[in-house]
Amino acid sequence: MSEHGFFKAGDRIQLTDPKGKLYSFTITPGKEWHTHKGWITHDDLIGLPEGSVVSTTAGLKFTAFIPLLADYVLSMPRGATIVYPKDAAMIVGVADIYPGAHVLEAGVGSGALTLSLLRAVGENGSVHSVERRQDFADNAKANIENYFGASPKNWKLDVGSVQEQSFSEKYDRVILDMLAPWECVAMAAEVLRPGGVFLAYVATTTQLSATAEAIKADGHFTEPESSETIVRGWHHEGLAVRPQQRMIGHTGFLIQSRRMAPGVEVLARRRRPAKGAYGVAEE
Ligand SMILES: C[S@@+](CC[C@H](N)C(=O)[O-])C[C@H]1O[C@@H](n2cnc3c(N)ncnc32)[C@H](O)[C@@H]1O
Repeated sequence: MSEHGFFKAGDRIQLTDPKGKLYSFTITPGKEWHTHKGWITHDDLIGLPEGSVVSTTAGLKFTAFIPLLADYVLSMPRGATIVYPKDAAMIVGVADIYPGAHVLEAGVGSGALTLSLLRAVGENGSVHSVERRQDFADNAKANIENYFGASPKNWKLDVGSVQEQSFSEKYDRVILDMLAPWECVAMAAEVLRPGGVFLAYVATTTQLSATAEAIKADGHFTEPESSETIVRGWHHEGLAVRPQQRMIGHTGFLIQSRRMAPGVEVLARRRRPAKGAYGVAEE
């Protein structure tokens, strides 16, 4: 990645045409990037500041930047569905992923969330990722190495089901994005330090319910909290300022909870369950 705002060999560059279409490649000395209207020589890009307008030999113009993490994630090859940038940002915030934190993550899928976690924990933290499928793990590894330029030293990737692994260390955070996170609640209680955060990202309300009930039944966690994040983009052209007509209607829900101290019983919330909450409502 460019550290000073000037392109150098090996940087990923993102070119945007006047219609907003994005193109991305790695700057490689001696190479050319071809379009239907002329080409750009990679060597001509080296040394330019980000935010430059570059032109092909036939006069086609593009704005040039290093891609933001969100741009990179949306354009990288996918094995499984990714955590969208709006949710990744919320996960980092809600689960309080701090510099120096030791995070256990499963599944890895395409590695989109892993990238956000690695950036948030910084060099003094670590991310231990577990993915059940070898092909997805390979794809995620390629995406992560491509982003950082090499495999990060503070990142470990294991293949298998996370609840079947044996862990020798404690974690500050356990972050799950998988079909059945409720099957991993006991494992999370085992590996989280007191005060550690458990967070699961699920797509459906039935998964949300199963996870919430598993957390409550486990007895090692505080009352879970849930949310979803709806982001609505806005259009602005002169006085025509209004919500964009298209938006992503649904991605998933976050549910999170904190690990209690060992041997300490959770203080039960004092409230009456809603009618029908645990079965068919009686007349
Ligand atoms: C939706 S994808 C994860 C996407 C990923 N968070 C991203 O942003 O790219 C869910 C992944 O969880 C994996 N998985 C499901 N259950 C698992 C388990 N018990 N242990 C490890 N991985 C699991 C699946 O193979 C799949 O790759």
